[in-house]
This record gives sequence, C-alpha cells and structure tokens, in this order.
Amino acid sequence: MKNTGLTVFAAALVLISGLTACNNVKTKDMVKSEPFGEFKGSEVSLFTLTNSAGNVLKLTNYGATIVYIEVPDRNGEKENVTFGYETLEGYINGDPYFGSVVGRYANRIGQGRFTLDGVEYSLSLNNGPNTLHGGPGGWHSVVWDAEIVTGANSVKFTYNSPDMEEGYPGNMEASVVYTWTDSNEIMMEYTVTTDKKSVINITNHAYFNLHGAGTGDILDHQLTINAQAFTPVDSTLIPTGEIRPVAGTPFDFTTPRLIGERIGEQDEQLLLGGGYDHNFVLDKSQPVAATVYEPVSGRVLEVVTDLPGVQFYCGNFLDGTQTGHGGLKYEYRSGLCLETQFFPDSPNKPDFPPAIIEPGKEFKTKTVYRFSVK
Ligand code: BGC
Repeated sequence: MKNTGLTVFAAALVLISGLTACNNVKTKDMVKSEPFGEFKGSEVSLFTLTNSAGNVLKLTNYGATIVYIEVPDRNGEKENVTFGYETLEGYINGDPYFGSVVGRYANRIGQGRFTLDGVEYSLSLNNGPNTLHGGPGGWHSVVWDAEIVTGANSVKFTYNSPDMEEGYPGNMEASVVYTWTDSNEIMMEYTVTTDKKSVINITNHAYFNLHGAGTGDILDHQLTINAQAFTPVDSTLIPTGEIRPVAGTPFDFTTPRLIGERIGEQDEQLLLGGGYDHNFVLDKSQPVAATVYEPVSGRVLEVVTDLPGVQFYCGNFLDGTQTGHGGLKYEYRSGLCLETQFFPDSPNKPDFPPAIIEPGKEFKTKTVYRFSVK
C-alpha cells in the first residue's frame, strides 16, 4: 500500500518535472520575451522566435509588429530582410508602418467618409483628404496584449478597440497569432469581432528587401503577382472603381518580371503612384498570391492569402531619413510591401468585395509569408 503510494507519487513527480522541462524547453528555445520599453503606461516587449533551422523572427506588441526576419541566402548566409528599428523609440518616432499590423481599415478610405445602413461615419484624416491605414491613431500605434502560445512557436496579440475609435463604429476585439514555422513561414492568423456592424481590413505592412534590409533598392527583385487585373487610382491614390486588365501594361506581373523593368515608363498610373502603389485583384484559383525572387542571394518570398487583393507598394515615399537595424538607412525604393487586403476604399465602392463585419460573426483571415531559396 505504502509502496504503491510512493510509486504513484514518484511517477507523478517524474511526469510533472518532465512536463515542466518540456514547457521550459519550448518556451526557452522557441519564444523568448524581453522588455522593449513602455508606451503610455503599458509595457512593451520584444519577442524572439527561433525555428528548428535556427532562423529568427522578432516581434513586438507595439503595433503587433514584425521587427526582424533573419533568413539564409542560398549559401546559408543569414541576413535580416525586413525594415525595423532596434528600439521602441524608433517605432514611436519613426515611420509608423514598418512591419506593423494596420487596421481598422488598411490602405485608404476616400475623404475619410463612408455610409453604412444610412449612417455616415467621418474618420480621422491623415493622408491629404483621405484616411490611411485606420487613421493617425490606428492599430499600428497602440500596445496590444501579448501571450506566448504554449507549446508552439507562436505569439498572440490582442487589442480591444473602443466604439468610434478614429471614427469607426463598433467595439472590436482584434487578435493576430504569429507563428514562425520550421519551414521559414510567418503565419498570420487574424480574428476580429464587433458589437456593431462595421468595416474591417486588417493586414501587415512589412517592407522586404531580399538581399538585406538597408542594402540597396528592390528594382532588381523579380516579382510575380497572380492577378489579371488591378484597381487604377486617382491623384490621391483612391481607386476610381475600375477593374483594369493588366495585360499589355507595366502592371502585368503574371509572369516573373524585374520590378525595375517598366517602372520608369510614362504610364499614367505609374506617374500617379510615383511608381507601383496599387491594389492587385488576385486570381483566387492560384494558391500563391505573389512571389518575389532576388537572383543574387537566391532568396524567395511567397505570399499566400485568403483575401481578394494585395497592395504592391515599392517604397516610393522612402527617402533615406529612417535608420534601422545595424544603423542602415532605408532609401528610396529600398523595400517593397505586399499587403494582403480588401480593396482600398471598398466601403465607398459598391462593386468591390465588401469589407463588412457583422456582430455575432467572427471575422477571420490568414496570410503567410514563406521564405526559401533557389
Ligand atoms: C500605401 C502607400 C503609403 C504606405 C505608407 C502603403 O500601403 O499604399 O501609399 O505611402 O503604405 O507606408
């Protein structure tokens, strides 16, 4: 009796210590958290996720942001391929969108206005006459709650956005789970709920340069976008409502093309965007939305999404005034973004896929950035 009791106790101890060790190993080796500073009374952390190949993804809960992505080239040389700052102050005072989550409405809403069920809503303006990326106090600029997901190489960020924040209706709860897989994929799973009908367009705004962030422009990167059409814009970068075929235009990336190949053409849309800064209408029969290949390093980035569009922005507004990791400067066109999204200004464009969220229904979307070499 006594013996059995002891045996059970010993077995339980072994089991408990085994579980603890296992948890420790996972937490310690896969996700590390360290203080990154404080913003408006909230603690901000820096999370380092390491996968089985030893490649590193860093995140912060300020703006639910991707800070750093270190992946190998075809010779195994590792390099950070995304724009980011080494300090929280960098994020607070610098470019607001490097790697951050943007919401509630990514990209632009014309005149910062839309009507829903007969009620007109006016948003905070921050981009000429328009609202960009949710407004000046959008989700890129708030501290999200953070939780390391047990037993996974994942961090979950959650933010409660109050009714009428930046002018948008509905109390919303938004979360994004980032997972850094052993195949060098950043999986981003977003979930949003609301208590009032509203609009939603949530994405990540990472800038990429596959030969290394801060090491020259991206005009030599080869791009494929599985899109037969794009949405032309007006002079304030609001879509006109037209869905225009890419065939025969500099917007045809249906087969791999160097970004620099046609960017200098006197094309009306390229002139309006100052280069590429347009939404592409994804061909949903294709599993991959876009592929970027940098021939010297051999690095490849593939973008997979369930969303209908992707904003291809090639850093036309960058000017070298921002200094990031390693003291490197982010110059004109030295980074590209592939922001998966609903089409810009869709709350004012009845023919675009609706970016509506209803109470009682969970809005879910998923995008993957997958790195490899060839
Ligand atoms: C927009 C650009 C804007 C940039 C800001 C992109 O999503 O399309 O026009 O300048 O975000 O970082």
